[in-house]
Amino acid sequence: MNIGIIVYSQTGNTLSVAERVEKVLKEAGHTARVEKIEVEGEGYAVRLTSAPDVAPYDAVIFATPVHGFSISPPMKVYLSAISDLSGKKVYCFVTQQLKKDWMGGNRSIKQIRAACRKKGADIINSGIVHWSDDLREKQIEDVVRIFSAIR
Ligand SMILES: Cc1cc2nc3c(=O)[nH]c(=O)nc-3n(C[C@H](O)[C@H](O)[C@H](O)COP(=O)(O)O)c2cc1C
Repeated sequence: MNIGIIVYSQTGNTLSVAERVEKVLKEAGHTARVEKIEVEGEGYAVRLTSAPDVAPYDAVIFATPVHGFSISPPMKVYLSAISDLSGKKVYCFVTQQLKKDWMGGNRSIKQIRAACRKKGADIINSGIVHWSDDLREKQIEDVVRIFSAIR
């Protein structure tokens, strides 16, 4: 399967997980590629300077940090701008600093799910990594395992 891992990452945490997912997907025989969303500006005034095209992919994994208990503004702006997702397998994961899913992770995933529904796809599975948690490495492994189940 041709899988796009579309990432926004401000300080590198989400990107580092995405690269681990990419490696495992390649080892499983998929074509996988990390593509970065890049922006200029701040908050919801951001302008996309790199907006990866989802069209080539059979499956897409969206990955973003939590910002202010919500999806990061660059990912929100990007998801509202993308083309149709219908017929694609769509997944997501988020990273957050705080240790509880309700401190932004759950809400961000809900927001990604709603944005993807508008583009014709349901999120099949999702994960949350809490960066300050002692169990972070296990959480990353769980996220990687979710995506290694893509067939
Ligand atoms: C502007 C801003 C807002 C944030 N808000 C939250 C938050 O509400 N909850 C949380 O757990 N972490 C929050 N964080 C922490 C990031 O989600 C966390 O450090 C994440 O792993 C960063 O990912 P990145 O390195 O890919 O940018 C925030 C970080 C920034 C810069």
